This record gives sequence, structure tokens and C-alpha cells, in this order.
Amino acid sequence: MTEEERPRDPRQPTGRLRVAVPAPRPDDPSAVVPGVALVTIDRPEALNALDFDLLDELATTLEALDRDETLGCVVLAGGPRAFAAGADIRELAAATPVSLELERRFEAWDRIAAVGVPLVAAVRGYALGGGCELAMICDCIVAGDDARFGQPEIKLGIIPGAGGTQRLPRAVGKAKAAELIFTGRQIDAAEAERIGLVTAVVPAEEVLPRALELAGRIAAGPRLAVRAAKAAIARAFELPLAAGLDFERRAFYLLFASEDRREGMAAFLEKRPANFRGR
Ligand code: CAA
Repeated sequence: MTEEERPRDPRQPTGRLRVAVPAPRPDDPSAVVPGVALVTIDRPEALNALDFDLLDELATTLEALDRDETLGCVVLAGGPRAFAAGADIRELAAATPVSLELERRFEAWDRIAAVGVPLVAAVRGYALGGGCELAMICDCIVAGDDARFGQPEIKLGIIPGAGGTQRLPRAVGKAKAAELIFTGRQIDAAEAERIGLVTAVVPAEEVLPRALELAGRIAAGPRLAVRAAKAAIARAFELPLAAGLDFERRAFYLLFASEDRREGMAAFLEKRPANFRGR
């Protein structure tokens, strides 16, 4: 196998994605947040615009982290000016229906959405277009008070192409989503919180610490149960109610085979903290 043919180790990204496993603690970089990885999109010169290679690298990285048994949560962050200002418009300007179909570059979005480990978006600045869609793929969104969300694709003569027409109405309701998508209007963090788009709004400089703290709490939980909960919540958006309830029931029953279920219930009855092992 030549050097070019060798698969790139996603843990050694090529410069525009930074990956820390485990994540360093913001207040003490010599310490870590156990069970949590931090992935940072780092393309500030283009406000973290997501070109196809960057998206592919992000998908590959998240898939690798998903398989890492030491991890229970991943924080996905951008920079202070932008979480991500959308898909790369320079690249899209050269696209045709045929190139989009043949190159299948939008499949990276499906790969990111299929990741089983919980994802927490840490959003500062712009989360527009694909950036907003990326945040919505994440399970929780911790937003800074400087965050701005929106689906401005209409201003480019297109519509959201990475799930915005589906996830935004599910997140905030049809009337609000329609207005935002039809006009491309940006909303600030306060409005995003009011309409239920985000988990929490915090002062800008606290976004990363708060996202890591939330991720640390998720990772400290019984990981099989947390993953099952993520899978079941995803079904809430995809299945009719009866099928979703059936999925939940089966996942619920299955968790009774886990060591963590025995430990969690024993700890409650013995009035002590549970020691979950992800088994
Ligand atoms: N693609 C490519 N480059 C982008 C970009 C994008 N989505 N967003 C910003 N940039 C680049 C700019 O071209 C500029 O580069 P140069 O310095 O080389 O000119 C640099 O980032 C800084 O941006 P601005 O000078 O525009 O910064 P600003 O502060 O004046 O404006 C902004 C900030 C309002 C976010 C503005 O950059 C903007 O409107 N960006 C585009 C947002 C957008 O339309 N996103 C949707 C993309 S389509 C999509 O995402 C499809 C999908 O569903 C997947």
C-alpha cells in the first residue's frame, strides 16, 4: 500500500479539524474531562464554512470516536466568530445536479447523523445554513449569547440541503420554521432559546466550559442506556407513534440485560452513588 492509498487516521486530522481525546478541562488544561472528546472546526478564514473535504473528515472523525469505548459524549465546537457559516458557497457555486449526484458528497451529513454517541454542539457566532443544520444534528446545543442561527439558503436561490427543511420544523414548529426558511432571517441566541432550538444560552466565554460540563455529565451516565435513549429519541422524529413506542419498549427491555441496569438499581436500593461501567 502506497502512502497515498493508506487510510488517513482520523485522529490525526489535516489541520482544519482539531480533535482532543479526552477533552482538556477549560479551567485546567493539564486535567481532562473523562469520557469526553472535543472536536473543533478550525477554518476561521472562511468562518468555518464546511467544504466537502472538511465535512468528510468530520464524518470520519465522528465515526471513529463513536467506536471508541472510552468515550460517552463528544463536544463539537467552532470558533468565536462562527460555529460554521454553512456549506462552502465557493464549492457549491461550481456544483451541478450531476456532480452532486455522482460525487455523493452530501452523504457525509447522513454519516454524521448516524453517529450513536451523543453530540453536544458548542455554538458561538454564526451557525448558518449547513452550520445550523450541523448544530441541529447534534443532540444538545449550548449556545453563547453571541450565537446567531439561520437558514439563509433562500438568498442563494436554493433551499437548505442538509436537513434544515426537516429538522427545523421538528425543532421549532412549522410556522416559525417556514418564516425562517422562506426569508433567510437570522435569529439571535435569545430567540433561539425562546423557540426551543437550543438547550441553553450562556455567556459567550462560558460556552465551551458549559458544553464540556454537560458532556461530562452525559459521559458519566450508563452509556448503553444513553445511546439507547439517543436512538429512541431519533425515532421520535422518524416513526409513527406506535412504531416509536415499540422501539422504546424493546430498547427498554434490552437494557435489563446490562450490568449498569443492575448496578443502577442496586445503588438506589443501597442508597449509594452508582458506579456505571458501560457494560
Ligand atoms: N462559504 C464560503 N465562504 C464563506 C462562507 C460560506 N458559507 N461564509 C463566509 N465565508 C467567507 C467569506 O467569503 C469571506 O472570505 P474572504 O475573506 O475570502 O472574502 C470570509 O468567510 C469572511 O466572511 P465575510 O467577509 O462575509 O464576513 P461578514 O462578517 O461580513 O459576514 C456572514 C458574515 C453573515 C456569515 C457572511 O459571511 C455570510 O452570509 N456567509 C454565508 C452564509 C450562508 O449563506 N450560508 C449558507 C450556505 S449554503 C448551505 O449551507 C447549503 C446547505 O444546506 C448545506
